[in-house]
Amino acid sequence: MSTTTDLAALAETTPADPAPSEAAPAEASPLTERYGPDQSVPLAPPTAAIDGILRHRTVRAYLPDPLDETVLPTLVAAAQSAPTSSNMQFWSVVAVTDLERKDRLAALAGGQEHIRQAPLLLVWVADLARARAIGAAHGTSLEGTDYLDSTVVAFVDAALAAQNAVVAAESLGLGTVYIGALRHHPEQVAGELGLPEGTVAVVGLVVGHPDPAGGERVKPRLPQAAVLHQETYDLDAQAEHVDAYEDVIAPFYRDEGLTESWRRRVVDRLAIPGPQRGHAHLHSALAARGLPSR
Ligand SMILES: Cc1cc2nc3c(=O)[nH]c(=O)nc-3n(C[C@H](O)[C@H](O)[C@H](O)COP(=O)(O)O)c2cc1C
Repeated sequence: MSTTTDLAALAETTPADPAPSEAAPAEASPLTERYGPDQSVPLAPPTAAIDGILRHRTVRAYLPDPLDETVLPTLVAAAQSAPTSSNMQFWSVVAVTDLERKDRLAALAGGQEHIRQAPLLLVWVADLARARAIGAAHGTSLEGTDYLDSTVVAFVDAALAAQNAVVAAESLGLGTVYIGALRHHPEQVAGELGLPEGTVAVVGLVVGHPDPAGGERVKPRLPQAAVLHQETYDLDAQAEHVDAYEDVIAPFYRDEGLTESWRRRVVDRLAIPGPQRGHAHLHSALAARGLPSR
């Protein structure tokens, strides 16, 4: 049965939180941080899973400490527990721990230092190769995998798997950061990882022990009213809620040394195609890797 819970009250009532005491000052509610102090949203009774998800923050500073040997199989089990379209399981993951390989992949991702710092980089792969190999063993070419729909399914499957791994990693006290920048150079990344035709790296995921000096915080999101539509979609109705978001994200950005508004950042990032971000060649790179978009 669901109850109505003020967002700001969730932190105090979450089972995962320690009871407030004089020794441990109460942690700010993740919901207040997520939406700002003025939002009140009816929530189901909090659970450890919801609390963990609401506390998500990307981590970009890591200690060099190795991961326990149980971490990788645990994350893969979490990833494989995600739904997968028609149980086709159109994804794979490549675990990279070799320092030199991480270094080369960091360079391909624009020099992102956290790839070098953290002990593990998981590269989530859209994978039509396994199905095609099964087809070949049956003497059948799988023409259905030549259509854009299969590529979309493979990307969705890979993303769902990766995000389950994020949730699991964070529940273990680990930090993560996605590396979308691996799509800047799909062919070179494929060469580095030995990816066969019919596969492409969707996104990387750095996993490691957060450096406490990193000080990451929950990053505010748009009000629910901007993203949640009842029955039918309404673009015009979003404007005022996007306005309200600027007031919530501004202090966060200020603390990060960023002076632009959120809308300005959207415009600046997308006003012109980013050749350096692979926009110009992704279509042909996918076709070259055996993921055509008929
Ligand atoms: C598909 C995807 C690709 C991303 N790529 C990068 C990346 O290359 N480098 C990076 O530092 N962060 C990357 N991020 C992290 C986002 O910047 C981050 O999730 C966003 O700013 C929201 O912050 P939060 O995760 O702390 O809430 C990526 C996130 C996603 C979902």
